[in-house]
Amino acid sequence: MGKSSKDKRDIYYRQAKEEGWRARSAFKLLQIDEEFTIFKGVTRAVDLCAAPGSWSQVLSKKLRNQENLSEAEQSKVKIVAVDLQAMAPLDGVIQIQGDITSVSTANRIIDYFEGEKADLVVCDGAPDVTGQHDLDEYFQAQLLLAALNITNHVLKSGGTFIAKIFRGKDVSLLYSQLRVFFPNVTISKPRSSRNSSIEAFVVCRNYSQPEGFTPTMTNPLLNNDYELSFIDLQEENQIIIPFVACGDLSAYDADMNYPLQKTEDYKQLPPTQAPIDPPYKTACYLKRNNLLKPKSETSNGNSNNDETVQSGD
Ligand SMILES: C[S@@+](CC[C@H](N)C(=O)[O-])C[C@H]1O[C@@H](n2cnc3c(N)ncnc32)[C@H](O)[C@@H]1O
Repeated sequence: MGKSSKDKRDIYYRQAKEEGWRARSAFKLLQIDEEFTIFKGVTRAVDLCAAPGSWSQVLSKKLRNQENLSEAEQSKVKIVAVDLQAMAPLDGVIQIQGDITSVSTANRIIDYFEGEKADLVVCDGAPDVTGQHDLDEYFQAQLLLAALNITNHVLKSGGTFIAKIFRGKDVSLLYSQLRVFFPNVTISKPRSSRNSSIEAFVVCRNYSQPEGFTPTMTNPLLNNDYELSFIDLQEENQIIIPFVACGDLSAYDADMNYPLQKTEDYKQLPPTQAPIDPPYKTACYLKRNNLLKPKSETSNGNSNNDETVQSGD
């Protein structure tokens, strides 16, 4: 798809570039906030799986401009962004290039907060999609549980956790697992998230650890060592999961095509921030320099017109 046809087809992609957001995902967090007022009083926030950084941009903008906070309180605002990938610097955001499944990442976050815990943890994590729906849903669920694991180390009692979820067939089990730690869990779908996608976001409020629960990154999340056992949860599975569509009704519909406003003098904008060290960098270099060899030239001798990337070239 050409760059300007993507502009035409995806209004949020275009709007993100016009407003200086690094990704269209910024609108999802903004629309969740419109519905749930998630930033009020928050001075310490963690953005898990943050690259390229549009959610961190939203956090930075919203937390530093809160009317209900004094200037002194606003100056205390701390935001940590974690991702496997390197991310271009952002004003007021500390970055950790690391894995959210690792306990050392949790410790680095706690160090930065000087022993204090976060008021808000958000996670827009997505594993690389395989195209096999069952597998993709499974990986996404595992990433959500990893985010919950690390949240158990860094979130304060009463805090809020927001994370991407795929509304697949195991969603009620995930929902029940979240309910162990949060009495208030809602699944929400921002208008900027396409209806054609099974993506949604869990908004979990009023964090409280069950008695006897010790946060760990290594043990399975649910076991019988603490009061709410898996068996107890089975009743929870019967609960109808609250679902809220969020975002102003006047907001753009992510599944619609919108014309470019002034088609003739329309200028296609570059992305606000290009990825700084993406995993596909080598492939782009090979393609640009015409170094991608057809399979027929590779050592296995198979005659095939597909192009392939020669690793290590
Ligand atoms: C959809 S992007 C996040 C977009 C981001 N919220 C924004 O607004 O710019 C998903 C990110 O999850 C990250 N990710 C996936 N697994 C991870 C892990 N185990 N630890 C840290 N980051 C991870 C990927 O590197 C990717 O950058």
